[in-house]
Amino acid sequence: MSGRRVLVAVAWPYTNGPRHLGHVAGFGIPSDIFARYHRLAGDDVLMVSGTDEHGTPNLIIADREGLTPRQAVDKYSRIIATDLRDLGLTYDCFTRTTTSNHYRVAQDVFKTLYEKGYLFERSAMGAFQASTGRTLPDRYIEGTCPYCGFPDARGDQCDNCLRQLDPDQLIDPRSRIDGTAPVFKESEHFYLDLPAFAEQLAAWIGKQEHWRPNVRNFSLNYVRDLRPRAVTRDIDWGVPIPLPGWEDRPDKRMYVWFDAVIGYLSAAVEWAIDVGRPEAWRDWWQNEEARHFYFMGKDNIVFHTTIWPAILLGYGNGGAVAGGRGRPLDLPYNVVSSEFLTMEGRKFSSSRGVAIYVNDFLTRYDADALRYYLTVGGPEVQDTDFTWADFVRRNNDELVATWGNLVHRTLTTTHRRFGAVPAPARLLEPDRVLIDQVALGYATVGEAIEHTRFRAGLLEAMRLATLVNQYLTQTEPWKLMSTDRERAGTVLYTALRCIDDLKVLMTPYLPFASQRLHESLGYAGTIAGGPVFRTVTEADGSRHDILTGAYGTWTGRWRPTELPVGQPIPEPKALFKKLDESVVADELARMERRASEA
Ligand code: MF3
Ligand code: ZN
Repeated sequence: MSGRRVLVAVAWPYTNGPRHLGHVAGFGIPSDIFARYHRLAGDDVLMVSGTDEHGTPNLIIADREGLTPRQAVDKYSRIIATDLRDLGLTYDCFTRTTTSNHYRVAQDVFKTLYEKGYLFERSAMGAFQASTGRTLPDRYIEGTCPYCGFPDARGDQCDNCLRQLDPDQLIDPRSRIDGTAPVFKESEHFYLDLPAFAEQLAAWIGKQEHWRPNVRNFSLNYVRDLRPRAVTRDIDWGVPIPLPGWEDRPDKRMYVWFDAVIGYLSAAVEWAIDVGRPEAWRDWWQNEEARHFYFMGKDNIVFHTTIWPAILLGYGNGGAVAGGRGRPLDLPYNVVSSEFLTMEGRKFSSSRGVAIYVNDFLTRYDADALRYYLTVGGPEVQDTDFTWADFVRRNNDELVATWGNLVHRTLTTTHRRFGAVPAPARLLEPDRVLIDQVALGYATVGEAIEHTRFRAGLLEAMRLATLVNQYLTQTEPWKLMSTDRERAGTVLYTALRCIDDLKVLMTPYLPFASQRLHESLGYAGTIAGGPVFRTVTEADGSRHDILTGAYGTWTGRWRPTELPVGQPIPEPKALFKKLDESVVADELARMERRASEA
């Protein structure tokens, strides 16, 4: 392939439970629309991510379920990867942060930053649980935010003003375990010298005029006041510190965010080893032409615009992994953050039972219905609220009524009356205009997706579908059959051509439906298939599963199709399911039940 080189770097979900709709609205579906589009356009895409398995969030769930951390992360890594597979997210390597490869790369980065003087040791106050004397991790501590006064800020960050915090900055801190005040004691840690990069980061962010304004403004503001940040924790679950005197300490580990962001690099390294070209990660990471797009929810912004870039700047091309060869590792090209999704007016909260889990959702509804809803009604540029009434309405009145209906009436009439793609007689002006208008969608929808305006791209594709519906309503080929069969065939041919193109335009958004339609149009082959599990055996013999896919075998291309005249059109299958209005009441009752059980 000779396209552009696009790294699609997707936020790594914690293994602290199954994913709910809020999660996949933020990082999952947008990143896949983008990756699928670029693959169809012939670009070279590498899409990486994995489960984020260290740190407190994962220890909390292990405790709660009476599992060891290892058992808990194994369990949820599998569940999450299955959710993402079932949504059709086309990762090249969706791996885990507990692989030997990740440990090796994370330790190399840590050690290199240390050797270059960007990490320094310092003793600072750490919080401990008064009753047990155990380390009380940041997120276990709540208190009042020193910046905005929000009363329920956490020890790592304030969810109201989104500032990063250290637990000892909180006013009136209390333990989330038992409400008592934590005890603060001196503890040795490594700090990342963020101020050393402050000027460089500010200049770099300042130039990123193509970023969404919220991301750029927030980050610019953030780098104005950078302080060193601890990158180790008093915790026994995480990547060991690769330095003498620290290596063997059971109570000190890397901060989970430090190792997790390095996953973007380590997963590319893993992918390269896995495809048998161990140096191929450099084509993505040391290449002026490569563009890196990161996808996440807004609570992850500073890690991707500031902390990870600082780590990359500090690492340069140094360390054992890069070996001092090639240019310094590439910085993000775009950091695409979505806003928050709420649920019937409430904040998603697994512990309060306010959540719809992806796996549960997919037992009753199709992945494409969700992909559609979260794209047009989701939190792309503003906080939005998921309501069942809105989901049912958009599914029925938009997806089914516009796109589903267009496909249905065209295919049913063609199948019954011709059994194959009819040969057109002379195309008239309205036929040609319509075909051309739909074909222009390759430019307009494509451009919207390239600029990460996913909602606009889908609305444009739907607008084109509406035009074709209007054309059919005006021309009524089913009536023409008895009076002018040749004209009826030409009209149906025109509509089929448009549908065939719309199928491609919809593929990044609705890959499952597009494949069904592809078959209903009489084609063989897979236009844009999804990911599968594969077991990887590492050099040290350990094994883990990744999500990956044979995307090079896709037959879909982002360009006008050439629907063959005479191609048999089989009995059409329904593209989407219409939902009964009772779904709304049923789901609300289900939610109330869950909330009262929680
Ligand atoms: N695990 C984090 C979350 O769920 C996201 C980590 S993104 C990473 O919020 F790339 F830094 F890992
Ligand atoms: Zn705050």
